[in-house]
Amino acid sequence: MHLEMKGIYKSFGPVEVLKNVNFDVKENEFHALVGENGAGKSTLMKILTGIFPHNGGTIFINGEEVHFKSIRDSEEMKIAIVNQELNVFDDMTVLENLFLCKEIKTKMGRIDVKEQSKIAKGVLKRLGIDIDLNRPIGELSVGLQQMLEIAKAILLDAELIVMDEPTSALTNREISALFKVLEVLRTEGKSIVYISHRMKEIFQICDRITILRDGEFVISEKVKNITYEDVVKNMVGYDLGGLFPDKPHIELGPSLLRVENISKDKLFQDVSFEVHEGEIVGFAGLMGSGRTEIMNAIFGIEPCDKGNFYFKDEPVTIKSVQDAKEFGIGYVTENRKDEGLFLEFTISDNILFNNLRRFSKKNIINYKLASEAAKKYTSMVNLKFRGLEQTAMELSGGNQQKVVLAKWLANSPQVLILDEPTRGIDVNSKKQIYQLIFELRKIGIGFIVVSSELVELLGIADKIYVMHEGKLTGSMINDNLSDETVMKCMMGGANFGKSK
Ligand SMILES: Nc1ncnc2c1ncn2[C@@H]1O[C@H](COP(=O)(O)OP(=O)(O)OP(=O)(O)O)[C@@H](O)[C@H]1O
Ligand SMILES: [Mg+2]
Repeated sequence: MHLEMKGIYKSFGPVEVLKNVNFDVKENEFHALVGENGAGKSTLMKILTGIFPHNGGTIFINGEEVHFKSIRDSEEMKIAIVNQELNVFDDMTVLENLFLCKEIKTKMGRIDVKEQSKIAKGVLKRLGIDIDLNRPIGELSVGLQQMLEIAKAILLDAELIVMDEPTSALTNREISALFKVLEVLRTEGKSIVYISHRMKEIFQICDRITILRDGEFVISEKVKNITYEDVVKNMVGYDLGGLFPDKPHIELGPSLLRVENISKDKLFQDVSFEVHEGEIVGFAGLMGSGRTEIMNAIFGIEPCDKGNFYFKDEPVTIKSVQDAKEFGIGYVTENRKDEGLFLEFTISDNILFNNLRRFSKKNIINYKLASEAAKKYTSMVNLKFRGLEQTAMELSGGNQQKVVLAKWLANSPQVLILDEPTRGIDVNSKKQIYQLIFELRKIGIGFIVVSSELVELLGIADKIYVMHEGKLTGSMINDNLSDETVMKCMMGGANFGKSK
């Protein structure tokens, strides 16, 4: 399929978010669409697939002009989209989900489960996915849910599949599986639009790249003719330099939080570590190694069964989120959609809800104080938005993540846990977030950063703890530490105390 979008304009109310954008995808081309958070990537693709109407411009498929009024229209023309934020009905089975609204019926008008199963099995086999068709979707990993969305696109016999940040919530193994599927799609002649903030993936699988900046087309170039630095420069608009800002040396303060021998069921055992004032403690490990579970325990979401906590060297109990907040612990979760934000509420409400006690006296909310804080912290995280009264839903994915960060900063935390803080965040904003962490450590905030991106931890952490299958297999001062050393521990080797 050959797609051309010419001179596309889009406004939300008075705000123009796409201005005269040109975008085209050739037959069997894997085309990367990149740009900073809020640049307009998802919006452009929602226009292509008929989810949003546009205010100007034309779309051609194989040279013929098309007008899509709904996603059904674009599906009919064999275009499918796997959205950035997956919306699934947890109780629905895999099979029901695959044929949702496209059920195959028997002559009697009943759903033809037999025929559906046969077709579904065929498609899943083609993609190399082994999965029970009767399992509820809610039980599947995000990776498998993502694969099912792709399977749906195949069921439609789509010739062009748009993937909006397909890997941001996937484990490395799931990413490899996805890439194998993409290779199958390549041999089948499909075209792909691939949106991602992960340059490595783009250079690995895409043929061409189109860059948007502030809703405008910047360039479109073959991947083999462009460097990583050029991509970043065109995205940001100026030379960004290295990804990591200089890390000023500071003397660590006294102990803030000390965790001794905490254990929970089979999730993690005998974990001990400490965070000092101004310290950035990194947690490395493969997905499923127990890092998030430990953070959930420290934050009182799922308290541990055994072990001790000390806050500023005093023994304390953390059995609930209230307890954790009492000690000034904040938690930016990895899953902003389920745990981080109320999408239907405004940006300022989201910040207020997280800090009700702080912003009220004798049960009366001081809205002025709340709004001042909202202003201060959204600007601190460099949020791109129109106004604080905008709902969180209207923000781009990366900017939603920044609101989560802002609402915890408004809580004046002493210890801030950041679980995958830069997932879905563009390079420029990443650098700004690192800068912000470095600023905040100067005033004594201690950080616990969980990340699957080792470069990130090596770039910012003072000390790196490594988890493997629920156990700590390493704790290393991050001083000329090599990624190899950390990787070894992630795979189960041990390394305590040695830094070089
Ligand atoms: N439903 C909406 N109502 C109002 N504004 C919106 C809506 N959806 C998106 N926007 C705005 O349009 C702009 C482009 O957003 P879009 O989601 O396309 O960005 P993006 O490039 O996909 O960013 P990200 O990398 O963060 O996902 C943003 O300023 C966003 O706030
Ligand atoms: Mg987006």
